[in-house]
Amino acid sequence: MSFKTQPKGFATKSIHAGQDPEQWKCNAVIPLISLSTTFKQDGPGEHRGYEYSRSGNPTRNVLEECLAALDNAKYGLTFSSGLGATTVVLTMLNAGDHIIMGDDVYGGTNRLIRQVASRLGLSASFVDPTNLDGLRNAFKPETKLVWIESPTNPLIKIADIKAISNICRQVGDHITLAVDNTFLTSYFQRPLELGADLVCYSLTKYMNGHTDVVMGGITMNSEKLYEKLKFLQNAVGIVPSPFDCYQVNRSLKTLALRMEQHQKNAIAVAKFLESHSFVEKVLHPALPSHPQHKIALQQTYGYSGVFSFYIKGELKHSTAFLKALKIFTLAESLGGYESLAELPSVMTHASVPAEDRKTLGISDALIRLSVGLEDAEDLINDLKLALEIAEKA
Ligand SMILES: *Cc1c(COP(=O)(O)O)cnc(C)c1O
Ligand SMILES: *[C@@H]1O[C@H](CO)[C@@H](O)[C@H](O)[C@H]1NC(C)=O
Repeated sequence: MSFKTQPKGFATKSIHAGQDPEQWKCNAVIPLISLSTTFKQDGPGEHRGYEYSRSGNPTRNVLEECLAALDNAKYGLTFSSGLGATTVVLTMLNAGDHIIMGDDVYGGTNRLIRQVASRLGLSASFVDPTNLDGLRNAFKPETKLVWIESPTNPLIKIADIKAISNICRQVGDHITLAVDNTFLTSYFQRPLELGADLVCYSLTKYMNGHTDVVMGGITMNSEKLYEKLKFLQNAVGIVPSPFDCYQVNRSLKTLALRMEQHQKNAIAVAKFLESHSFVEKVLHPALPSHPQHKIALQQTYGYSGVFSFYIKGELKHSTAFLKALKIFTLAESLGGYESLAELPSVMTHASVPAEDRKTLGISDALIRLSVGLEDAEDLINDLKLALEIAEKA
């Protein structure tokens, strides 16, 4: 029983793709990190690939090429945040268009659709991406975009991306399937291989991995989608800074190493929690107890450090637990080298309507962990002590 076998060459790509030193002939007015906002032209309209830094920047270009290579994609684009990337995807649509959304997505994505896109004339249906019949029935003549996360957040359900892609193809070529791959990264899951049209990232999380940059990215193979999104990247203007691009480019060099260690630590922590008497249930796809364990093994190369579990008891127990942690920091976000813990019902998913939280299972006993790169024994001891304190609350 194991995940898909990783083809050779991932780490080499993360170090060399897009990085050829011979390319630095861009006439930047200020040298690299290419902070220059403008580039010298040889004659009016005659430039060497760069004119103005919103429409193209050499440091950003390096990162975009590297991101594309890691997903085995033809094209990559970056944006000033993960939600910025989502916003740019939404600006491909027209008023009156309809979106099918996973019902258990990042809280900010949910808020963007419900509170912003709805005002601009876009409608959305929220469906469980693990229920293929429900998803199939959600299509309308005006549906243009299907947006899913796998694993979902915070309930860590695994959607069968290939099956969803097949449904989208049956409906027609006018459907764009976007997969938010933030939780697994290009290292553990490559949705383009499974039939997705767009792979979207909050690079803020694992891809940068050092908790010091907010950035988003999109990779794709379709030239048509690339031309549209490249135009919108410049036209809408949600671009990242060259310095941030430099940081993420650097971080990708250790992505393979970091993800292997996140995986190892998280599995050790998940197994510990599953064996603990004050834990109700652990939601981790590498455990045979996970309802979509088999799909996870079939479509991914492994699993990252973020997963959830239900503590026994209620709000006062989860609160006592979170306050007692010493190595895990009580904070939102995920994917950094440091371990974090949070309560989705009150923190990351507070903007999801209370009724929806209830139907989904985002209760006050659901705790989400982002297992970092500390020593696994220290993490387990921290959780053990906090569970003892919570039990007495
Ligand atoms: C954080 C996150 C986002 C939003 O990204 P930002 O970089 O914070 O704008 C989107 N999707 C998922 C799954 C996330 O975890
Ligand atoms: C990308 O990162 C590598 C490793 O730190 C570095 O050698 C390379 O110069 C970086 N490229 C840019 C454009 O910053």
